[in-house]
Amino acid sequence: MKVPQTIIKGFSKYTSTEKLEMVCKLFAAPDKTKNSFESFLHPDGNIQHILSQISENTISNYPLPYNVAPNFLINDKMYMLPMVIEESSVVAAASSAARFWAERGGFKAHVVSNIKNGQLHFLYKGDPDKLKNALPEIKSHLLYYVKPVTRNMEARSGGIVSIKLNDRSADIPGYFQLDVGFNTRDAMGANFINSCLEECSSGMQQWLNTTEGFSEPDYEPLMAILSNYNDNCLVNISVSCNINALDGAAKGLDGHEFARRFALAVKIADIDVHRATTHNKGIMNGVDALILATGNDFRAIEAGAHAWAARSGKYSSLSRVELSDNHFSFILEMPMALGTVGGLTGIHPLATHSLEMLGKPGAEELMMIAAAAGLANNFAAVRSLTTTGIQAGHMKMHLSNILLQLKATPDEIEKTTAYFKDKKVSHQAVATHLAELRK
Ligand code: MEV
Repeated sequence: MKVPQTIIKGFSKYTSTEKLEMVCKLFAAPDKTKNSFESFLHPDGNIQHILSQISENTISNYPLPYNVAPNFLINDKMYMLPMVIEESSVVAAASSAARFWAERGGFKAHVVSNIKNGQLHFLYKGDPDKLKNALPEIKSHLLYYVKPVTRNMEARSGGIVSIKLNDRSADIPGYFQLDVGFNTRDAMGANFINSCLEECSSGMQQWLNTTEGFSEPDYEPLMAILSNYNDNCLVNISVSCNINALDGAAKGLDGHEFARRFALAVKIADIDVHRATTHNKGIMNGVDALILATGNDFRAIEAGAHAWAARSGKYSSLSRVELSDNHFSFILEMPMALGTVGGLTGIHPLATHSLEMLGKPGAEELMMIAAAAGLANNFAAVRSLTTTGIQAGHMKMHLSNILLQLKATPDEIEKTTAYFKDKKVSHQAVATHLAELRK
């Protein structure tokens, strides 16, 4: 594909058909490529319209598998989890861990706090102490000033819950922040928060302009934006049991030996950044898949999760093990700013189905469900790693991908799957076996 080395002006103004044609002309086989892209457009024009409206410059769709993981017992309620992910072993791992823990009392979860953060970043040339002393007055002015934006949220018992002034002038001369805390109820609330913050900035200007002893030109607004570091929007989830109840967790290991090796692996993720990153990726496998299925913003959760994992100044494991006497607990606490109303949740038909599948939860219930998906995947990964290794399971799941790549027929798939039932799967081995079959 050859991309023209000139600037394309006004690309967004072309129709989607024109855009598709322009793009396909760059391919070696334009007509074939166009047909292929078009084959992924939704046959129902209304649905395609929704999908195209969600984003920009849409020329096709990129389908991912929509999967379900049963047997998630969370706070004594059983859930079937929708998971959108391309990595097959993630769903298998989630399902297997969910069933394992459902037979041992299930997940226990609670929301630690549900306050989202936003910041106003500005420079202030006036007297910093005078500004700090005026904070109570500034606060009440801002709360009054942003009322038109917060009124509806307040009617649902949400809105602005705190305003703090941070003097960061030691880091950047004249730099201050207004740290604003929000309760957005069941909404993810990104637009609400950003609108409030922009209003707060105008409100600051007005206050400085109309208050004696202060001057508006001393204030230089820089940015008004939510923070994805939601360290005050935390969910806690755990599984625990008597160590003897772990006897069946892995072949050939009794519960104590399993727990010892498992705890060691989690400790390694706590002290070593290379392992911590992969360990936490295993958690995010489950969290992201659930979040994507429910129309929430997985990049926001990813960003916040990793910042939280580094809150001590050293990037570490998000989960931890507690072993005491004869008891094993596996615990995950992490930021999880989610919503069940607004955004994509009510627009994308499959996001709506996902929320219905989960029993139409509120935001706090969804936080706990997403955390359960994370802890389940983390448990399954560490269990495999410290016992059988992950490749046996992964490669078995990967077999169907290899067969797809090698364009195996249904008959070849059946025969090859049976052949590899008790053998090591590798791309080379599958290719060789298929070649033999095809002789
Ligand atoms: C693979 O997607 C995730 C794992 O690497 C996680 C881990 O190593 O803990 C298996």
